[in-house]
Amino acid sequence: MRISLISKLTIGTSLILLVFMMFFAYINIATLKTMLLEAAISDADKLSETVIKTTHYEMLVDNRERAYQMIEEVGMLQGVDHIRMINKNGAITFSTEKAEIGGYLDKTEAGCNMCHSNGELKVQVSTTSRSRIFFNKQGTQVVGMAKAIYNEKSCSTAACHFHPPKQKILGVLDITVSLEGMHTLMRNYRNKLVYLTVFLLLFISLAITFFTHRLVNHPVRKLLTQTKRIAGGDLDALVKNVSRDEMGELSDAFNQMTLSLKNARMELEEWGKNLEAKVAERTREIKQMQAQLIRSEKLVSLGRLVAGIAHEINNPLTGILMFANLTSRNPRLDQSLKGDMDVVINEAKRCAKIVKGLLDFSRESIPQKKLASLNKVMDGTIDLIGRQSSFHNIDIVRDYRPDLPLIPVDQNQIEQVFINMLLNASESMPFGGSITIKTYTENEEYVCLQITDTGSGIAEEDLERIFDPFFTTKSDKGTGLGLSVSYGIIERHGGKIDVKSKVNEGTIFTIKLPLSPQGGETLAASTIS
Ligand SMILES: Nc1ncnc2c1ncn2[C@@H]1O[C@H](COP(=O)(O)OP(=O)(O)OP(=O)(O)O)[C@@H](O)[C@H]1O
Ligand SMILES: [Mg+2]
Repeated sequence: MRISLISKLTIGTSLILLVFMMFFAYINIATLKTMLLEAAISDADKLSETVIKTTHYEMLVDNRERAYQMIEEVGMLQGVDHIRMINKNGAITFSTEKAEIGGYLDKTEAGCNMCHSNGELKVQVSTTSRSRIFFNKQGTQVVGMAKAIYNEKSCSTAACHFHPPKQKILGVLDITVSLEGMHTLMRNYRNKLVYLTVFLLLFISLAITFFTHRLVNHPVRKLLTQTKRIAGGDLDALVKNVSRDEMGELSDAFNQMTLSLKNARMELEEWGKNLEAKVAERTREIKQMQAQLIRSEKLVSLGRLVAGIAHEINNPLTGILMFANLTSRNPRLDQSLKGDMDVVINEAKRCAKIVKGLLDFSRESIPQKKLASLNKVMDGTIDLIGRQSSFHNIDIVRDYRPDLPLIPVDQNQIEQVFINMLLNASESMPFGGSITIKTYTENEEYVCLQITDTGSGIAEEDLERIFDPFFTTKSDKGTGLGLSVSYGIIERHGGKIDVKSKVNEGTIFTIKLPLSPQGGETLAASTIS
C-alpha cells in the first residue's frame, strides 16, 4: 500500500504530539486535583474553626440548644455534607443526621484513629492527616475533617464548672464536606483540555499538511515529473522556480546533473558521428591504397614488358630514321617522293617519341635526390614551357607558401612530372582558363603541390584509369604515358598523387612528397637548388 509522504509525516507528528499532550494533560489534571483537594480540606478546616468559634460563647453559657441550632444552620450550607459533635467518651452529642445522636464511636473508627493511634492521643496533628476522603451513604465522595475542641481557661472557669481544668480536650467537631463541586470543576477542566487537545492536534496536522505540501511535496513532485521526462530521454527538462532552501539546492544539483547528462549525450552523439566519418575516411583510404597497390603491380609488370619491346624497337627505328633522313636529302630522290619521305620521317620520329616515353616509363632509375624547394622547381618548369603557344590564353596563378621546407628530390624527374601536369592542364583548356599552383605542408610530414585548372575535367569512369600507361583521350596526339610516368616518379620519391575532378569545371592534381628522405636512401651531394 502506498502511503504519501505527507500522510506519514502528519500521522507521525500527530501521534508524537498526542502522546506528549496526553502526558501533560495527565500531569495537569493530577496537579489540579491535588490542589483542589488541598483547598477543600483547608475549607473544611476553616469551616470547623468557624463553627467552634461561633458556638464558643453559647457553649460557655451552656446554651446548647442555640449552639446546636447554629451548627444545624451551618450544616445546611451548600457543599456541607454533615456535621457532628463527639464528646470525650466517644458519644455523638449532636449530628445533622439526627439518627446517629446518642450513638458511640470507637477510637479505631475512621475520623478518630488519626488522633487516637496505638492507644495514644496525639494532641497536635496536621490538617491533612486529620482529613479523610470517603464515599457517604448517598455514594457521594466527601472529605471529612475532625477538629478537637480544646478545654480553654474560660471553659473550666465557667459558671457551670462542667469541665475540670485537667481535661485537655472536651470533644471533637467532625465535618464532612462534599467533593462534588471539585469533581464538577475537574470534569469541566478535563473536557476543556480534551477539546483543546483535539483542536490543537487538528490545527497542527492541517498546518503540517499545508506546509509539507508547499515546501516538500510540491518541489518533490516537480522533481519527479522532470525525472520521468529525463527517463523518457528529454534532457531539456529543467526544474524551475524552486525555493531557496535545501529543495532549491537539490533542484540545482538535479539541473546540473541533467545538463551534464545532456552534454555527455551530445558528446557521445558527436563521437558517434565522428566515428562514422572516420570509418568512412579510413575505408576510402584503404580503397585508395588498394587501388594504388594494384596500379603499382600493374605498372611494374607492364614496365618490364614495355622496356623489352622499346629496346627491341629502338634499334630498327634508329636505322629507319637515319636512312629515311639520308634518302630524303639524296639529290637523286625524285622530288615527287620528297613529301612521302617526310611523312616516313615524321612518323618514325613519332615512334621514337613513343619509344622514349616507354623507356622513361619503364626505367626504374633510382632518383638522384638533392634538397630543393618545390616552389623553385615549379618556377623553372613554368619558365621552360610557359612560353609555348598552348599557354597563351592561360593565366598561371602562384599561391606558394613562402617558407616552404626544402625536400630531397631528383629535380629533373620532378620537373618532368610538373611538365606533364601543366601540359595536361593546358590541353584541357584549349580556349583558355587559369592554372593555380598552390604549395603547402601537411602535418609536418609532406610538402604538397596542388595544380588546379579550370579545364574540361575528367569523367568519373576515366578517373580510375588515367594513370594507366597508354590511357589517353587525346586520340591523335596523346601517348597516354604522361601520367603513368609521373606516377612512377612520385612513387619512387615515396610520395603520392591524388586527383579530384568534375567534368566542365576543372581538375585538381595534388602531389605529396615526404619532408624527410625515405629509409635507406641517401642524399646526393649537398647541393641545394
Ligand atoms: N588536367 C587534365 N584535365 C583533363 N583531363 C586530363 C588532365 N590530365 C590528364 N587528363 C586525362 O588523362 C589522360 C591521360 O593523361 P596522360 O598525360 O597520361 O596522357 P596524355 O596527356 O593523353 O598523353 P601524353 O601525355 O602522352 O601526351 C588524358 O588523355 C586526359 O584524358
Ligand atoms: Mg599528358
